[in-house]
Amino acid sequence: MSNHRPNYAPGRYAHIVGWGMEAPTRTLTNDDLAQMVDTSDEWIRERTGISERRIADAGDSPITLGLRAARKALASADMLPDELDLIVVATSSPVYLFPATACVIQDKLGAGHAGAFDVMAACTGFIYALGIAAAQIKIGAIDTALVIGTETLSRIVDWSDRGTCILFGDGAGAFILRESDAPGGVLEVVMHSDGSGGNLLYAPSGIRSQWDAPEAIPVNARMNGAEVFRFATHVMASATREVVERAGLRLEDIDWVVPHQANLRIIQSAMGRLKLPEERVVINISRYGNTSTASIPMAVVEAVESGQIGPDNRLVLVGFGGGLTWGAAIIEWEVTPKRPAPVRELMREAGYILAAIRSFLRRLWRFLEALILRER
Ligand code: COA
Repeated sequence: MSNHRPNYAPGRYAHIVGWGMEAPTRTLTNDDLAQMVDTSDEWIRERTGISERRIADAGDSPITLGLRAARKALASADMLPDELDLIVVATSSPVYLFPATACVIQDKLGAGHAGAFDVMAACTGFIYALGIAAAQIKIGAIDTALVIGTETLSRIVDWSDRGTCILFGDGAGAFILRESDAPGGVLEVVMHSDGSGGNLLYAPSGIRSQWDAPEAIPVNARMNGAEVFRFATHVMASATREVVERAGLRLEDIDWVVPHQANLRIIQSAMGRLKLPEERVVINISRYGNTSTASIPMAVVEAVESGQIGPDNRLVLVGFGGGLTWGAAIIEWEVTPKRPAPVRELMREAGYILAAIRSFLRRLWRFLEALILRER
């Protein structure tokens, strides 16, 4: 760990003031999977803790799932898209290499003042995105940010590979961050990587790796499960310890750990290393499987909405993924959900319709402008 400490502006904190999640309605159970590959409900539950996962509808993508999660987050913060300064999307299954998923969502929200870009750090992406957004707020560069983790991993899974297809699912989660002078919010974030382990967990982009390569490698997720398992248990524990120490706290000061939901046995083993009882760990893997960048925000949102996580709780979010990457964030959760004012709710809904009209008019104007300029 480097000794460098960020130079935050005094008295500026980045609080999470809104949150939302989107889970597709279609469920794929372990028994359904046993019809597709040589596996069983018992094997999957015993080795992973997963019972079912959600699969996006044909018309859905990380854009639509992320957009719906973002709209819910804006509603819970009772904010208008216009108030956003930055949108950061973490995704491992983007529809486009560019434009960034964040830009498409920016347009659909009508967030006219927001910068927007994507983060690719595999399943650790949400922690990275949260770290970047919180730091931007704390240094005083921006006041508000929307951070989204969104996936349709079902589109990059090889459904004939029983070693991987049992693990993954689709979904999205979003946080709204806002500047405040009240101490708390995102206290510390640590981010790590080790590219020497890139071959343990990867998905080709579909682009040919060499000019004269005969064909592109298919866009499937590939993995050395046993090696990833070993790496994961180690780094989940070390990153949790590190972020807690950085905040000048002890593990006993933490109310909830929200780990990346990749495998129940990984979570249990990592928490065992930390001697943290399961009652202080948020776990929802049995219903969603591994949703990559969406798994941590989805788990947080469910725990907040069920009343598990409440005001004044200290949370550690900790994740790992391809890259290899890993990281953790420590958060003081101080906000009680707002009851959105009906007028602003109406303004938001009207704003989404206006955003679609504005986007259409901008495209039309660009088209006409090109025509006029060509004629000159
Ligand atoms: N159903 C039934 N049997 C399966 C199976 C499945 N879905 N997948 C693998 N097996 C078999 C293997 O072929 C192997 O058979 P063999 O002993 O005859 O060769 C046996 O089960 C054990 O395989 P192994 O890979 O050692 O199992 P495991 O206990 O390590 O569990 C994973 C496999 C993938 C569940 C586990 O390694 C894992 O979760 N790793 C981490 C993956 C991860 O989190 N990736 C995402 C990171 S973000």
